[in-house]
Amino acid sequence: MSDWTDIGALSAIPERGARLVKTAMGCVAVFRTVDDEIFAIDDACPHKGGPLSEGIVHGRSVTCPLHNMVLRLDTGLAQGADEGSVATYPVRVEAGRILLDTERLRRGRVA
Ligand code: FES
Repeated sequence: MSDWTDIGALSAIPERGARLVKTAMGCVAVFRTVDDEIFAIDDACPHKGGPLSEGIVHGRSVTCPLHNMVLRLDTGLAQGADEGSVATYPVRVEAGRILLDTERLRRGRVA
């Protein structure tokens, strides 16, 4: 079961940018890639909790602003020699609005 919640306009997030969405279940970082793909992951870096929503987006990855761990936006997995992962959440765009599956957020990580 899904519970798609409108979290704002796609146009409110710049290309290669992010928006922090605060929910009762925690903070979710929602990213927009240069190809207009949207991804939602936990905001806290698995290393020491850095704010991933303030990281640098490149391709389908984000680099943590604190110590440069690179995480995939689609899988939440750390890249390269680093280990760890963040939860990913279903998100989609409909009529220019970003919808986040808050039911999945309540249940925890996808993979
Ligand atoms: S807190 Fe993200 S790399 Fe250290």
